Amino acid sequence: MEHGVWPSTFPALGQQVNGHPLAYLDSAATTLRPRSVIDALVDYYSADNANPSRVHTLASRAADRLSSARQTVARFLNAPDPAEIIFVRGTTEGINLVAGTWAVANLRRGDDIVLTVAEHSSNLMPWTRAARQTGARIRVLDVDDEGRPRLDQFKNILSKRTRIVAFNHVSNVLGFVNPVKEMCALARHAGARVVIDGAQGAPHVRVDVQDIGCDFYVFSGHKMLGPMATGVVWGRRDLLDLMPPYHVGSNMAHAVDFDRAEFEHGALKFQAGTPDVAGPVGLAAAVRFFEAAGHETLRRHDEELVQYGLARLAEVHRLRIIGSQSPERRVPVFTFVMEGHAATAVARALDGRGIAIRAGDMAALPLLKRFGVSEAARASAYVYSTHADLDRLADALHALGK
Ligand SMILES: Cc1ncc(COP(=O)(O)O)c(C=O)c1O
Repeated sequence: MEHGVWPSTFPALGQQVNGHPLAYLDSAATTLRPRSVIDALVDYYSADNANPSRVHTLASRAADRLSSARQTVARFLNAPDPAEIIFVRGTTEGINLVAGTWAVANLRRGDDIVLTVAEHSSNLMPWTRAARQTGARIRVLDVDDEGRPRLDQFKNILSKRTRIVAFNHVSNVLGFVNPVKEMCALARHAGARVVIDGAQGAPHVRVDVQDIGCDFYVFSGHKMLGPMATGVVWGRRDLLDLMPPYHVGSNMAHAVDFDRAEFEHGALKFQAGTPDVAGPVGLAAAVRFFEAAGHETLRRHDEELVQYGLARLAEVHRLRIIGSQSPERRVPVFTFVMEGHAATAVARALDGRGIAIRAGDMAALPLLKRFGVSEAARASAYVYSTHADLDRLADALHALGK
């Protein structure tokens, strides 16, 4: 990949931060946006902005933009039907939607919800709340010392009481790509429904929801070059049609009166009120960016970043990577602790050199505790990241670790 093109493609990369060129290594939190996504937003607002409907020309254009974005996202996921694409504000809202509708309507006392210890708070709290509301029980699958889910244990945890299993495609701490297809097969064999938190998966791994075999796949557009506060729930059409709505109000129902309402079908039933149009339009532009760059090219770039990043970080004294140090099944997300340095102090020191990383509990405290810590630092690279960014990271950490 031609690294030299990125500053012109990603305008934010052209700036200096604290007197240094920006090295943006916080992409797992939110990515930078390419010019094509920014232009799509400006173009929508400049030309076609209206409350979507078929009653006047602009409204009709806005409706077409939304429907075309739905088709683009369906293609991105290989979803069989665009009516299965629910636009939400992000993974957090998406998982709350599934837990608050499917789970609350279907779970009973004595049922089990299975999660892994590596879940982000946004794929943990909606389930603990659903468990409290329904009397269901949470069961937690461990990971091994490399951060891989303990599939041996999974078989024992699953039972005929398991109604739903929710796990991440890629952990935001470990960067490990879970064997989601195998996990889905095991869960479905036990008769459970499967929800995949794709917040860190969709940005890096080619997603084919039909091949994976899940029931719901949820991701955030803003973690894959799309606009802030965009996200998607993909759900199997037969399940969507049986689920109660999430929010109720205009657009998701017809013939509404005090004593009745006729709900829309498929995804539309879950999108009450005036929809966001610019967000999905921008997200569709992000999908087209991936398609133009080529998934294979992006995958190879990721692989290179993983190998180079792991090698450079291995040279830093007193630095411990959380999870596997092998480049296999990995995306370029590097979480680490440095002996003698608080993670937040590390992040602040790097910021002084123009290097943006994250620090804290990563909204994944149970997993950090599993690895014996309560906070960590995380550098996460993406399509616009270069070896030079990772060199600057490693050199700055090396200077700190001396
Ligand atoms: C694995 C994982 N799940 C869920 C989320 C929540 O995503 P959002 O904040 O976009 O709702 C994140 C965000 O960091 C994440 O990394």
